[in-house]
Amino acid sequence: MAGDNRSPVTVIGLGLMGTALAGALLSAGHPTTVWNRTPEKADDLVERGARRAASVAEAVAASPLTIVCVSTYEVTHELLDPLGEALAGRVVVNLVSGTPGDARRSAEWAAKLGVPYLDGAIMAVPQLIGTPQGLLFYGGPQELYDAHASVLQVFGGQTTYLGEDFGAPLVYDLALLTMLYGAGYGWVHAQALINSAGIPASAFQPFAQAWTQHVILPGVGDLDHGRAIDQRDYATEVSNINTNRLALSHVIGASEEAGIPVDALTPLRGHLDALVAEGHGLDGFARVWEKLRPAAD
Ligand SMILES: NC(=O)c1ccc[n+]([C@@H]2O[C@H](COP(=O)([O-])OP(=O)(O)OC[C@H]3O[C@@H](n4cnc5c(N)ncnc54)[C@H](OP(=O)(O)O)[C@@H]3O)[C@@H](O)[C@H]2O)c1
Repeated sequence: MAGDNRSPVTVIGLGLMGTALAGALLSAGHPTTVWNRTPEKADDLVERGARRAASVAEAVAASPLTIVCVSTYEVTHELLDPLGEALAGRVVVNLVSGTPGDARRSAEWAAKLGVPYLDGAIMAVPQLIGTPQGLLFYGGPQELYDAHASVLQVFGGQTTYLGEDFGAPLVYDLALLTMLYGAGYGWVHAQALINSAGIPASAFQPFAQAWTQHVILPGVGDLDHGRAIDQRDYATEVSNINTNRLALSHVIGASEEAGIPVDALTPLRGHLDALVAEGHGLDGFARVWEKLRPAAD
């Protein structure tokens, strides 16, 4: 049945995301069994043809493949651990957010129980599930992924297998979120500076949009930057660390004058100071990576 377009699938967890996953399975014609702690969240799915299981054990027994989408790994284990031997041979795909360590520990747990296991990460909002733009990452045994790829691809057209490391999907997920929160925090800090001069946010926003598009996006989103880091070649024709260090000192000075917290920026100032002291002032900003990376040469 694995890989069959009509193979039965179970979904555990019917929050915003789990409901979207189960809905996509139903739309693709999979017999779908669902379980949720709050059972009435299944009502709409049941109307569309899903089967409501009365317990987690019944849900897992209903299909060879179970997708888990609850809030945390702790909840995943609260729900699945009591099943013990009954899980053996049932394929579990965990789409819960957590850390790469959570994923690898869950894979060890699954291996002990004889549960074929994949871990995944969803880089989409529920509205993108089942669309060509939906991006989901998977990690775990290649053979297992291949056997279930046709079902997993139902969730999004950008579904990507990253290799045997169970933690890789969450590494990618959290790296992308790190970029999101860095940019998001930078944006609210910028708006705080704007506010300190009595300027409405909406007056600044067109410039924020153009800056994002023409400066920030090429600055971090270009494929060449990945190659530069891999090759540790930080030559720049755009702006060097000397220039960025001065600019950052002005940002920090202006923020302090305006009473805006600068705690998030002071580590970067420290790294830029150190790089200049070490003679790297003419290199590009990407060299800061050398100060953050934990891996030894
Ligand atoms: N929503 C998104 O845009 C999005 C995007 C990417 C990844 N994700 C990930 O997808 C997972 C689910 O997110 P969501 O948006 O669906 O969250 P949600 O709407 O808050 O739903 C949480 C789900 O977890 C269940 N749950 C929580 N504690 C439980 C417990 N102690 N026992 C049993 N069930 C419990 C809830 O059951 P009840 O309904 O009974 O409360 C519900 O099914 C999370 O790991 C999230 O990070 C979400």
